[in-house]
Amino acid sequence: MVIQWYPGHMAKAKREVSEQLKKVDVVFELVDARIPLSSRNPMIDEVIQHKPRVVIFNKKDMSNLKEMQKWFAFFKEKGAVSVAVDAKHGKGLKQVESAAIEATREKFEREKAKGLKPRAIRAMIVGIPNVGKSTLINKLANRTIAQTGNKPGVTKQQQWIKVGKSLQLLDTPGILWPKFEDQTIGKKLSLTGAIKDSIVHLDEVALYGLSFLIEHDYEGLITHYAINVEPDADPIDWFDAIGRKRGLIQKGNEVDYEAVIELIINDIRNAKIGTYCFDLYHQFQEDNHNG
Ligand code: G4P
Repeated sequence: MVIQWYPGHMAKAKREVSEQLKKVDVVFELVDARIPLSSRNPMIDEVIQHKPRVVIFNKKDMSNLKEMQKWFAFFKEKGAVSVAVDAKHGKGLKQVESAAIEATREKFEREKAKGLKPRAIRAMIVGIPNVGKSTLINKLANRTIAQTGNKPGVTKQQQWIKVGKSLQLLDTPGILWPKFEDQTIGKKLSLTGAIKDSIVHLDEVALYGLSFLIEHDYEGLITHYAINVEPDADPIDWFDAIGRKRGLIQKGNEVDYEAVIELIINDIRNAKIGTYCFDLYHQFQEDNHNG
C-alpha cells in the first residue's frame, strides 16, 4: 500500500486515532517483529498516552526470537505487555486475548471494586502501513473483514469483532505514519517492505542489507547464493558474484546491478536467506548512551 503522508494528513490521522482510542480499554500496537522499534509511529506514546498497551510483534516467522526477547523486556520496562504472532499463518493468536486480559487487569479490578458488571475488553489495533493490521484482524475474526489498502486514520462504519471469550476488537485499524526522518530507519523500513516506494535509494537499501548479513550471517549468505566472497570484499565484488551466479547479465557481459539490487532486497524482504531482527538492542543502547 502506498500512502502519501503530509503534515495535514498526519495530524488528521493522529486526531482520528486518538478519537477512536476513547472507545477502547487497551491498544494493540502492531509492530514488525524484524524491526520492533523502527516500525513504530514516532508519536505513538503521545497518541496512546497512559492507556493499557499490548505490543504485538507480527511476522515473527521472519524474525529472530532471541533478539525479539530483548525487545519484549524493553517494552515491559515501559509497562507494556508484548506478544509475538505470525498473523499470516495464524500462529500465536491465542496469546493476544490473554495479553489483553493481563494489560487491563488493574483497570477491570478497579471497575469491579466500584461494583460495575463484568464486560468484554475492548481493543483496537494501531500501526504503520504494511505491518499486517488487516491480516491480523481477519485472522482474529476468522473471516475477511479488514480490507488491505485501507486509508489512513480509521473509516466510518465500525463494528466490534468478538475474539475468544473476553475480547472485542474494533474491525478497522488505526493507521499512523512511520519514521521518515532517519536514513537508517528508512532503509530498514524498505528492507522489510513497510515502505515500497523510494524515500531511500534502493542501492543503499541493498548495501545496508548486504552488510548486515555479512556481519550477522555470512555463512547463510554465501550458502544462499552459492558464492565464495570474503566478508571484507568490496560490495561491488559481492554484487558481481551474485549477479554472475544468477545470470543477471546485460549487454557486453556486464552485471545488471539494478537486477542484483532488486534480487537482494526481495530475498531479504521475503526472508529467503534467513530470519533476522534488524533492530539490535545492544546497538540501540549504545546509540542512546552516546546521546
Ligand atoms: P496492513 O493492514 O498493516 O497495511 O498490512 P497487511 O495486513 O495488508 O499485510 C501486509 C503484508 O504483510 C501482506 O503481504 C501480508 O500477507 C503480510 N503479512 C501479514 N502478517 C504476516 C505475518 O505474520 N507473516 C508474514 N510472513 N507475512 C505477513 P503482501 O505481500 O502485501 O500480500 P500477500 O502476498 O500476502 O497477499
